Amino acid sequence: MEMRPVLVAICLLLVTPITGSFWTVGSQLVMDPMLVCKKTRRLKGKLADICRKEPSLLKEIAKGVQVGTRECQYQFRNRRWNCTTVRRSLKKILLRDTRETGFVNAITAAGVTYAVTRACTMGDLVECSCDKMTSKGNRLAKFARTVEAKKSLPTEGDWEWGGCGDNVNFGFKKSREFMDAPYRKRSDIKTLVKLHNNDAGRLAVRNFMRTECKCHGLSGSCTVRTCWRKMPPFREVGNRLKESFDGAAKVIPSNDGHSFITEGPTIKPPGRFDLIYSEDSPDFCKPNRKTGSLGTTGRQCNSTSPGVEGCELLCCGRGYDTRIVKEKVNCQCRFRWCCEVTCNTCLVKKTVNTCR
Ligand SMILES: *[C@@H]1O[C@H](CO)[C@@H](O)[C@H](O)[C@H]1NC(C)=O
Ligand SMILES: *[C@@H]1O[C@H](CO)[C@@H](O)[C@H](O)[C@H]1NC(C)=O
Repeated sequence: MEMRPVLVAICLLLVTPITGSFWTVGSQLVMDPMLVCKKTRRLKGKLADICRKEPSLLKEIAKGVQVGTRECQYQFRNRRWNCTTVRRSLKKILLRDTRETGFVNAITAAGVTYAVTRACTMGDLVECSCDKMTSKGNRLAKFARTVEAKKSLPTEGDWEWGGCGDNVNFGFKKSREFMDAPYRKRSDIKTLVKLHNNDAGRLAVRNFMRTECKCHGLSGSCTVRTCWRKMPPFREVGNRLKESFDGAAKVIPSNDGHSFITEGPTIKPPGRFDLIYSEDSPDFCKPNRKTGSLGTTGRQCNSTSPGVEGCELLCCGRGYDTRIVKEKVNCQCRFRWCCEVTCNTCLVKKTVNTCR
């Protein structure tokens, strides 16, 4: 297990005590799930059950959090806020209710769904196994609820469910039990937004399952085909959630106090897949302890791009410094009989721009 040293390190190094504040426990779930179980003695309900009785599941949950974090950093690599895991920043991001908060919650809930489901398929958990999909009619109906799912069914020839499918409903359920547990009985706006975004994240996995098939029969004649359900690659989940981030809707509490409505009357109500938020984001230009912004000084930018990674936007108009760096690369590669490729190393000059 490659994860083990990391987890042990997390447990040993991060000795920040949980203060007992409700929201701190909540953000700790996202920052490092193992710690929640270690430090919080008075946990109750589903969360406590997982902590006490399901250590191997907890390990998969921690993996899922990492899967989510890595994807978040990929999706935001060129933006002012780059999904940094620097604790003093992430902690503040998670305590607010901005678009960024929404994305982190959604991608984490998705990552946990993904990792737990994958573990079921791999046979790494005793609690679950892969999805055998034996009763054809039922399963077909169940999976074909969404348009996406219908599109991904094989259209030609004879086929039947078989093999080892991804048991996404188990991952979905466990992600919900773990991530949502502390919030279930609350109905303040931040909680409603969080639960909505967590679900949007999980749905970005579950509702975009695809079908994979394999042919059986004499020398690939494909007289029988068996098909199984498979999760989309996590990059696709990330791309989808990033799109939702870009189109996220701002909400305010409704009069009944138990739900939310969109802020402007003309904005179309957010669907289950959409991300929502209730607080405007800071601009992340300068370091700010209150918002968790680290500022963009020292960040690399692209001097010719008009987009978010361009120096103008990334550096917030402060300007940038340009350096020439020399980089070693392989060059003049030759193929030598047989079977070897030899290269020289060359130095190439590269321009690097960094924000002031
Ligand atoms: C993210 O941004 C911070 C400062 O804004 C910087 O220190 C850090 O290196 C960046 N991380 C990555 C992975 O680019
Ligand atoms: C910088 O941006 C331009 C225009 O968008 C793009 O063509 C170029 O590949 C980018 N350079 C780097 C190093 O990413």
